[in-house]
Amino acid sequence: MKSSGHGLLEGKSGVIFGALNESSIAWSIAEAAHREGGRFILSNAPVAKRLGSVDALAEKTASKVVWADATKDEELDALFETAKAEYGKVDFVVHSIGMGVNVRKDREYTELNYDWYHKTLDISAVSLHRIVHSGISTDALADGGSVLALSYIGAQRIFSKYSEMGDAKALLESITRSLGYRLGRKGIRINTISQSPTKTTAGSGISGFDAMFDFGEMMSPLGNADSESCADYAVTLLSDLTRMVTMQNLFHDGGFSSMGISDELVSKLAEVLGGAD
Ligand SMILES: NC(=O)c1ccc[n+]([C@@H]2O[C@H](COP(=O)([O-])OP(=O)(O)OC[C@H]3O[C@@H](n4cnc5c(N)ncnc54)[C@H](O)[C@@H]3O)[C@@H](O)[C@H]2O)c1
Repeated sequence: MKSSGHGLLEGKSGVIFGALNESSIAWSIAEAAHREGGRFILSNAPVAKRLGSVDALAEKTASKVVWADATKDEELDALFETAKAEYGKVDFVVHSIGMGVNVRKDREYTELNYDWYHKTLDISAVSLHRIVHSGISTDALADGGSVLALSYIGAQRIFSKYSEMGDAKALLESITRSLGYRLGRKGIRINTISQSPTKTTAGSGISGFDAMFDFGEMMSPLGNADSESCADYAVTLLSDLTRMVTMQNLFHDGGFSSMGISDELVSKLAEVLGGAD
């Protein structure tokens, strides 16, 4: 990757949600968007002020931080008004937000606390709808723009420890398709990247994450995709090069999603089970 980038986002502006610390996927996306010439506002929930290091990223990428809880419409509206004042209209929006409340508190899927479950769905999925609604109703989202959210293959397949987050990602991907149809009339596209297990704060909050990570690594022909490669893919989806791509869930997973089992896993299982390879 050229350290100077390819100018993919030259002249474009946006909002990037979800950079908390250096390990965040959104952190890498912000660095890549900056490298490609994009300008943007960074946003995160007010609680992240104390938990993360967003200001350091803002300094590094010459961007502004606007704190907004993605489940609060009035905070999102205020954010998009600021973006409008700053840039006129924004060409791209990145939703890199997730939180599984029951998962964090180790509640089994069959014993979900429904208040927490609502919160999980609101933060991790409905927030995408709120963000797009706010961007459109404040007239801040430019025709021809690109919206991108982060998903996981737990939307399609059961990864036992992913629990309620599988539902949240299925909803996120469904919202992406439903909005994609409506936004297409304005030439705005919307997609999700379905990313490999990645060592981040949200990732590590899932018990059994290490096993999911190792499984992904052994299963995927290219190995797990890291945040930096995800960010490189993300900037292509924010750029005009992908202007006809919409309503897609795009796997960025080193080939994991096309695999059944790999030789490496067969050998490992044989070791553990004591059978012949
Ligand atoms: N880490 C992985 O293994 C992995 C794999 C596939 C997809 N993803 C997805 O990538 C996205 C980013 O997660 P990450 O792994 O970089 O972890 P992360 O913890 O760095 O990012 C999650 C972000 O969500 C923000 N957030 C939580 N509640 C919020 C709210 N109410 N309003 C606004 N922001 C809020 C957090 O502050 C944080 O910045 C998530 O959608 C996650 O599900 C992660």
